[in-house]
Amino acid sequence: MELNVSASENINGTLVLPLYEGSESVPESCEVGMPTSLKSQINRVLSDGDFKAKKKSTMTLLGGEDGKAILVGLGKSDECTIHDFRKAGAAITAGIKKSHGSELTVRFDGASVAKMGAFAEGMMLRDYSYDNYKQKDDEDEKIEVAVRITCSEKESEELSKLVADYKGICKGVHLSRDLGNCPPNDMYPEVFADMAWEWAKDFDNIDVTIINYDQAVKAGMGGLVAVGMGSARKPCMVIFEMNKHVEGRCPLLVGKGITFDTGGISLKPGANMDEMKYDMGGSATVFGTMEALAQTGHEGKVVAITCMAENMPSSNAQRPGDVITTLSGKTIEVLNTDAEGRLVLSDGLWKAGEFDPEYIIDFATLTGACVVALGHEATGLWSNDDDFRTRIHEAGNEVGELAWPMPLLPAFEKEMTNSKIADTRNLGAGRWGGANTAAAFLKQFVPNRGYEKDGEQITWAHMDIAGTYWGSKTNTMVKDGATGVHVRTIHHLITKS
Ligand code: BES
Ligand code: ZN
Ligand code: ZN
Repeated sequence: MELNVSASENINGTLVLPLYEGSESVPESCEVGMPTSLKSQINRVLSDGDFKAKKKSTMTLLGGEDGKAILVGLGKSDECTIHDFRKAGAAITAGIKKSHGSELTVRFDGASVAKMGAFAEGMMLRDYSYDNYKQKDDEDEKIEVAVRITCSEKESEELSKLVADYKGICKGVHLSRDLGNCPPNDMYPEVFADMAWEWAKDFDNIDVTIINYDQAVKAGMGGLVAVGMGSARKPCMVIFEMNKHVEGRCPLLVGKGITFDTGGISLKPGANMDEMKYDMGGSATVFGTMEALAQTGHEGKVVAITCMAENMPSSNAQRPGDVITTLSGKTIEVLNTDAEGRLVLSDGLWKAGEFDPEYIIDFATLTGACVVALGHEATGLWSNDDDFRTRIHEAGNEVGELAWPMPLLPAFEKEMTNSKIADTRNLGAGRWGGANTAAAFLKQFVPNRGYEKDGEQITWAHMDIAGTYWGSKTNTMVKDGATGVHVRTIHHLITKS
């Protein structure tokens, strides 16, 4: 899809007309240049009550003498938010067929620039399919659609700028989705690292450093090494630095990147195990966010750390009962090798302290318990700073990606330090509150400023995306597969809040 903004009054190709509930005829402001028979066709449908303009509903009018139209519903005008515009845009893309032709012209009835932009964003976000692995016959060739969003002369500069930003952000979301959807035989730690390396070559303000297996062993990254050593595809850490010469503290993102999670020796049951290819969703979110920032020309400094490993059972794999020493020096009794995300993150979080960041946010498909708590509707959100947690929650609300506040309680932390032989344990005492005990575990590896023993802990948030990175049926920006969730939230947080 090629989407542009235009102040022209022409209708090229099929007209896309977003309408409020209760519209009985074509809004006056949309009539300019509309062929008479198309207008009367639409008026007939509306006055007969055949199209009620309910949220996300669409109706195609073909067969008229002078043009085609797609009507799309926005719901009631007094309740209609920017999110409804985004969803209406996505509904259009979801419904595009060959019969609509290769050109669309969208015409709004006096919507704000922000709402028109959101509509365009929805159209672009939903314009995604993952078909790299399908043989293509000519029949299936995707139709390339050119979309013109029309607006007034005085709005066009502002809207063009907004749409250009959304284009860049969409690239980030789609990159996150591509990484997540890629099958695990082709997406493993080294591949991810190579992709990051190649990607960075396109930008002179981005550096990528790869800490390979041997270097990780040498550095003492006992968590990353323990999780990855059972696989022939060795683990690594990938560090992205954007605008590293900019002075001062910056945001730092950390991602869980388990390219396949079998559970290791604590093997998972077979049903739906294929879905564990998405267990690198945290790292995909981080990489996608860097792409979104790069594409929109972000000038601030941002650092990202992705912890990549494949969790396999083998004769080289770690065992339940092993005690490992992490980068922080803290030891962990590994009671379940399937609780591996927290092990790789323990090193990623600790490493983050080296960059003296303003704050750290980690993203992880960390626990099934989080899916039990919040379903596929919201990401679990924990933080050691209430105001920061609220800022992230609000950034999510702004872009329509819910992140729900969850508690960090001392009792959960206590539960995770209660090992007989090590400093910490990677498993709670029981299964209750499993998402909270996991978060409390991570907190122990968030460094104090300057790694001072009695210093202040760096501001940190943890986002458990186990329920939202894939499998959401209500996410209207996505048909299936990886969602690319929170690239937009974090882009918003970093650039606008
Ligand atoms: N990757 C899984 C979490 C997961 C499970 C995400 C299902 C999405 C859907 C994680 O590594 C894991 O296996 N966690 C265990 C932790 C337990 C052993 C304490 C879990 O949630 O069961
Ligand atoms: Zn696991
Ligand atoms: Zn996992």
